[in-house]
This record gives sequence, structure tokens and C-alpha cells, in this order.
Amino acid sequence: MKFPEYRPRRVRRNENLRRMVRENALSVNDLVYPVFAAAGEGLKRPVESMPGVYNLSVDLLADEVGRAVECRIPAVLVFGIPETKDAVGSGAYDDEGIVQQAVREIKGKFPELLVITDVCLCEYTDHGHCGVIEDGCVQNDPTLELLAKTALSHVRAGADMVAPSDMMDGRVAAIRAALDREGYRDIPIMAYSAKYASAFYGPFREAAGSAPRFGDRRAYQMDPSNALEAVREVAMDIQEGADIVMVKPALAYMDIIRLIRENFDHPLAAYNVSGEYAMVKAAAQKGWIEERRVVMEALTGMKRAGADIIITYHALDAARWIGEGY
Ligand code: PBG
Repeated sequence: MKFPEYRPRRVRRNENLRRMVRENALSVNDLVYPVFAAAGEGLKRPVESMPGVYNLSVDLLADEVGRAVECRIPAVLVFGIPETKDAVGSGAYDDEGIVQQAVREIKGKFPELLVITDVCLCEYTDHGHCGVIEDGCVQNDPTLELLAKTALSHVRAGADMVAPSDMMDGRVAAIRAALDREGYRDIPIMAYSAKYASAFYGPFREAAGSAPRFGDRRAYQMDPSNALEAVREVAMDIQEGADIVMVKPALAYMDIIRLIRENFDHPLAAYNVSGEYAMVKAAAQKGWIEERRVVMEALTGMKRAGADIIITYHALDAARWIGEGY
């Protein structure tokens, strides 16, 4: 293949040629739309660092979820903002908790839509960590039981899939065992397997009020410097029964998405996180970038890197743009 016999530009000359040789395409089928359920009624509280994202009371949440259904987005990922928090995050596994109420409402209105729930304690603990604290640090094994209770409670409320995001060791096995014990053998687990201790979660913590009150999450989330460790984490989660594995965040971790794609054949999700969304929105508001093209380029990049599923706050816009041939 050398010039002048080979001219790569020949197949770039017009849109139909480009369409014909295109290697990757985004589909609405790939998208998951994250939503934030909050206590109250008629509540639509904007998340300042995430323009277009809101904390929604359960009644209004159904409208927002309806928009995803209209766009034919297959799934939503539900986060909860409880009214009160305590040391052991009991709101997470309360059958009348905010996520449980939201799931019942969504499944009642849209029974076909896949409802995935984020399983973690950080939105429910008064210290903001993802597990129970003893001697100033997050205790792994006592947390497992609470995570399993949380997952079970979500599934009882009607969740179709649970997504543990806590990064405790052994949580996939604990959740799988609890679900199986209660007869929920067919409920899949989407594990946040390679989840990094990332500054890109900043805006989410505003949205969910889940910033740790002391310290940080580096004793359980992964070191951004590591790649091989992601392979071990994913292998472990698969061995414990994960049905879908995830890399999070996405943009600064495209190499990890590719690495996991090449090493495993499980369905792979990438989480286009809050900070990635915030950067695009802020620059677009200033008129410094073209939002539509930047979003579609970033999401296509995740797909090209190897993601099958993309969790993104841009999902509604992306679905519309895909429909218009982006
Ligand atoms: C809960 C959780 C977080 C995110 C998803 N689940 C926050 C965190 O780990 O601090 C981040 C999502 C985002 O930034 O969009 N543990």
C-alpha cells in the first residue's frame, strides 16, 4: 500500500463513500440515560454544574423517563437523593427508600423500559463514603452485607438490573448470592469493575450530594495510573458473576476500554461521567465548541474503543442526533 497506487482519500470523497466504509456507528440501542430521583413533589432542581440535568421528585421523574422511552433508549440508570442520611446508609436498603419508590413509579408507567439501579451507600451515608466506617476507614466485609441488602431491595421494587458502584472487594459475589437466594436468578449485574478514583466525578457529587465529608475514595476506587489492575478487577467481577462489566470514567480511559475489550468477551459498558459532560456543556455555552459534533465524536470514540453500552447524560440529545443521521 503505497502512494500513488493507493490513495486513502479516494473513499473519503463524498458522504456516501464515507458511509460505505465507516467502521463504527452509534445506535440508540447503546445508550443508558442516568437520572436522579429526589424526595418531594413537583421538584425539579437544576444541578448547577450539569446544565440540563435535574434532581427530580418521583412524579416529575416519570416525565423525564418518558422522554427516554420516546427516543427508544432501552434503559435508565437510577440514582437516589434521600431526605436523610446516617452512618450506615440505611436509606439505601429501605424498601420505602427513594430509589425503590422511583423504580416502582417508572416500572408502573413504562413496564418495558429496563430500569437499572446504582447500588452504593455514598448517597445515603452522612460521611459520604461508599461503605461503613470503623477506625476512620471504610470496612470492606461489613459493607458487603449492606450492598446485598440494597440490591435485593431494588430488585424487589422492580429493578431489572443492579449496578454496584462501590468498589468493595467481593461485592458482585455477595449480591449474586443474595439475589439467587431470593429467587432472582435472572436479574443481571452490571458491575462498575474498573472504576477509577477520578476528579471527573465532581459534578455528580453536587448532583447526588455524595462528596465524602473527610478524606477521599482512593482507598477503594482505582489509581488512575494503573491499567493491568483493571484487567484483574474485571476478571474478578466476571468470576463472581458479573453479566456486564464497566469502565469508568470513559474519556481519559479509552485505553482501558480497549484493553478490557481485547481481554474479555463480556458486554462492556463505558460511563461518560458528570465531569466529562460538564466540560462539554461549559465550553458549548461559551460558544467555544460545537456541542453536537463534540458529543457525537466523544461517544463514537467510546464505541470505537470497544464499548457496547454507553451511559451518558447526553443520551436524549444523542438519541435525537442519531435519528437525524448525526
Ligand atoms: C456512586 C457513584 C458515583 C458515580 C456513579 N456512582 C460517584 C462516586 O463514586 O464518587 C459517578 C458518576 C458521574 O460522575 O457521572 N459511588
